Amino acid sequence: FDQSKKKIGELSILYEIASTLSTLESFERISDFIYKQVKKIVGVDFALWFGWSEKEKKLSLNFYQGLENTRRDLQIPLERQEILDSDKLNTGIKGKLKGDFDLSQYLDSVTSFPIIAEGMLHGVVSVGNRKHKSISEDQKTLISIIASQTASLYERQRSILNASRLLTMGKMMSEITHDLKKPLTNIKGILQLLKEKWSDAEAKEKFFDMVEQEIFRLNGLAKEIVNFSNPNKYELEKKDIRLTLQRALNLVKRDLDTRKINLKWGYQEVPPIFVNENGIMEILLNVILNAIEAMPEGGELRVSLKPHQEPKKKGQYLQICIADTGCGIAPEDLDRISDRYFTTKKDGTGLGLAVVERIIKAHGGFVSVESELGKGTSFFVNLPAEELRVES
Ligand SMILES: Nc1ncnc2c1ncn2[C@@H]1O[C@H](COP(=O)(O)OP(=O)(O)OP(=O)(O)O)[C@@H](O)[C@H]1O
Ligand SMILES: [Mg+2]
Repeated sequence: FDQSKKKIGELSILYEIASTLSTLESFERISDFIYKQVKKIVGVDFALWFGWSEKEKKLSLNFYQGLENTRRDLQIPLERQEILDSDKLNTGIKGKLKGDFDLSQYLDSVTSFPIIAEGMLHGVVSVGNRKHKSISEDQKTLISIIASQTASLYERQRSILNASRLLTMGKMMSEITHDLKKPLTNIKGILQLLKEKWSDAEAKEKFFDMVEQEIFRLNGLAKEIVNFSNPNKYELEKKDIRLTLQRALNLVKRDLDTRKINLKWGYQEVPPIFVNENGIMEILLNVILNAIEAMPEGGELRVSLKPHQEPKKKGQYLQICIADTGCGIAPEDLDRISDRYFTTKKDGTGLGLAVVERIIKAHGGFVSVESELGKGTSFFVNLPAEELRVES
């Protein structure tokens, strides 16, 4: 009975780990959480986390728990093969700890585990206790599963974070480049004027030509950067927007879950339209992320898709509505939200909606907003459903 009670305890801890992990964003906090869990199952008093550098072939101490005077700069040169061999790993680590630590007296209890996720070696965790209790084989298996599971989940989460960071990078790049181009064009104009007024001297002219050429080159470079951050800018394809929308919602599903945001989504049958899908994706993600960020305490995200006829505009539109029950926008800010660098957020770049504006214009569409402070905000993204014109 005791045995199965223990098993259930272990399983419930594994479950707790899996469900808590998705809410922790730094590896430091994750490892702290893991340490506490492992401590519950196995009587460990301290843990040391090492990161593995493939290039330098060494482990470096990242952080530790349950220890006070440990040296932070601890480095252990070990080959990959030695880390994967549990005997060699333990010998290697113990050998190093013996010389460097006041830990040496508890060395007999120290056991080390490689952290492997998605086939990659990430590092090593070493645990031990001050009661000189050795860890049983069963417990060892459990710890190594927990360590590797954690690393997998963390990696997956980090790749999602990186994806959104990349999105921001793209935003920055194209907007900053855009800013750079303007003064360049001005300089070019002035040079041209100067050239006209400055009557003689061939040499001068040549010089100016050269400067002009340089500027030309710079301009080309700027264009390249824009294309780099937005490779398929002008390529259009006939797309079912419903699928694009679904893909965007899938990408933020995890954010919705962790923030306790209910998703309500409905659509009417609409024809496929010509769009640049990457561009539309960027629009949707920016608007949806804004909606999510407006609801830190949870709420409801309503997304819908329907045909739309704008009173003062001719032609059919396809309207995507993204509505939240979040903080809302102050009436005096409403005119400014699409301005470059306008933000009310601590970590905001204020470029999201500026980018949205640029892409929607290129599609010949428009965005409208309704918002009530404290109640919520609705964004309407209108895309022309026929005769799509694209401007740069
Ligand atoms: N759904 C929304 N609810 C409340 N405020 C919003 C909403 N969408 C946009 N805003 C307001 O508009 C501002 C500008 O939004 P924008 O997306 O351009 O930049 P940001 O979100 O602040 O920064 P970034 O998108 O770079 O993270 C926001 O800071 C916020 O004040
Ligand atoms: Mg934003």
